[in-house]
Amino acid sequence: MTVSKSLVLITILALVISFVKAYDPSPLQDFCVAIDDPKDGVFVNGKFCKDPKQAKADDFFFPGLNMAGSTDNKVRSNVTTVNVEQIPGLNTMGISLVRIDYAPYGQNPPHTHPRASEILVLLEGTLYVGFVSSNQDNNRLFAKILQPGDVFVFPIGMIHFQVNVGKTPAVAFAGLSSQNAGVITIADTVFGSNPPINPDFLAMAFQLDVNIVKDLEAKFKN
Ligand SMILES: *[C@@H]1O[C@H](CO)[C@@H](O)[C@H](O)[C@H]1NC(C)=O
Repeated sequence: MTVSKSLVLITILALVISFVKAYDPSPLQDFCVAIDDPKDGVFVNGKFCKDPKQAKADDFFFPGLNMAGSTDNKVRSNVTTVNVEQIPGLNTMGISLVRIDYAPYGQNPPHTHPRASEILVLLEGTLYVGFVSSNQDNNRLFAKILQPGDVFVFPIGMIHFQVNVGKTPAVAFAGLSSQNAGVITIADTVFGSNPPINPDFLAMAFQLDVNIVKDLEAKFKN
């Protein structure tokens, strides 16, 4: 093998390894309760870990997910997040949870989780849910109307949404395959970036009149 071929191979290997490391790591110990102050910590694996001997039940506990979040906002839904910020014991576990409340005709607008697949179960109400596959797959829409007890999966990275199409409030719970799934809401990200993206650029990208883009940027300004 020539030197340049070896270099290419090494570069590809390095890329593969960095992709693998982009996922939540598998734990190398029973648990790794996250702490802010490394003073009493033992291992470092993304966050500092508490000395396992100091771990207690409360590190793995979060109360109150029986309570609805307020849907008094512009999309009329509320996502209550239970990730490593709320439960330090989720550190390195590759899993987290949300509760989502929807007022009648409220929605969780199109968004994507950069680090997690999602599995959602509807408990109450009627939801229209869907995700769109990538360009390579011709951006196919996979959508369904869910009734209580129905489950739907949103694969990692896919843009997805849920709309309450019923006359009553809806509530769903969802598991996410990351301790910190992250969320990119499409409208907020594209039209509400800080500072704003040049409206002329977005006008061409979205095939819109520039004044419409300026209006959208004003609405999503944060
Ligand atoms: C979600 O609900 C909580 C609890 O009622 C509230 O504090 C929060 O402001 C709500 N978020 C939004 C975006 O409405």
